[in-house]
Amino acid sequence: MRLSQQQGIGVVVEDFDSASDDDVRALKQTVYREKIVVLKDQDLDPRGFLALGERFGAVEKYYEPIYHHPEVPEVFVSSNVGEGEKRIGVPKTGKFWHSDYQFMPRPFDLTLIHPQVVPSRNRGTFFIDLCRAYENLGEELKVAVEGTTATHSVRRYFKIRPSDVYRPISEVLEEVDAKTPPVSLPTAHTHRHTGETILYLSEGFTQGITDERGRDRPELLRELLAATGQLDQTFEHPAIHLQTFDRGDMLIWDNRSLVHRALHTAASEPAVSFRVTVYDDEIGPRS
Ligand SMILES: [Fe+2]
Repeated sequence: MRLSQQQGIGVVVEDFDSASDDDVRALKQTVYREKIVVLKDQDLDPRGFLALGERFGAVEKYYEPIYHHPEVPEVFVSSNVGEGEKRIGVPKTGKFWHSDYQFMPRPFDLTLIHPQVVPSRNRGTFFIDLCRAYENLGEELKVAVEGTTATHSVRRYFKIRPSDVYRPISEVLEEVDAKTPPVSLPTAHTHRHTGETILYLSEGFTQGITDERGRDRPELLRELLAATGQLDQTFEHPAIHLQTFDRGDMLIWDNRSLVHRALHTAASEPAVSFRVTVYDDEIGPRS
């Protein structure tokens, strides 16, 4: 396995052997240390991709079936290709700052993306490291965050499904609230694999911050989102890393440390990518 450092966040990994337990262990440690790994020379079909995901932990199938690959439901499909009956997956996913399953009681530990159809321009995913963001907070904001709780919900970004057409919006929202009630976590908490402190919030899913006495703190949420770079519409904030990719790449990232946001091409170029998400209960030595 050969590693080369990227500008900003992450490393490129070549000559990875998924049959080697040593390589899998080393790759996982690399993901937690470097946050993003770009694995080169991968050409996996959905079953092969799922099998690779299973080497890193327990693969979790997405809770909404419209995203499932028709043959391998554990594979989540983001695609703007095909109409009507021919459509698989969901177009324009994740064009807002978030981490995957942040609105669930248990967010994924690792996300793997294997692009299938790569647009020629404007491709990539933006990332922000929330552990680094916590470190870079001013002393005053660090103190202000202490003891606060952040609440996350999918409500603003739940995607209307074809089966929702003609349903009253109130009924859809009731279903969303019943199926995925908001979840709360300490705003700053410890990463269970690395021991770092994560400033765990996103512009897409975090709906509020409350202090120790249960008072709503909207101005603190806004200040923290601005400090982390998530309110910067130009994407020039120094904390924002744009990860590009080519056909044959696989991106693997630490979904607890990072928020990300898809960069969708403005032109209607075809784009398809497969995703597998993993719970990792193996707690190795912290490096
Ligand atoms: Fe995502």
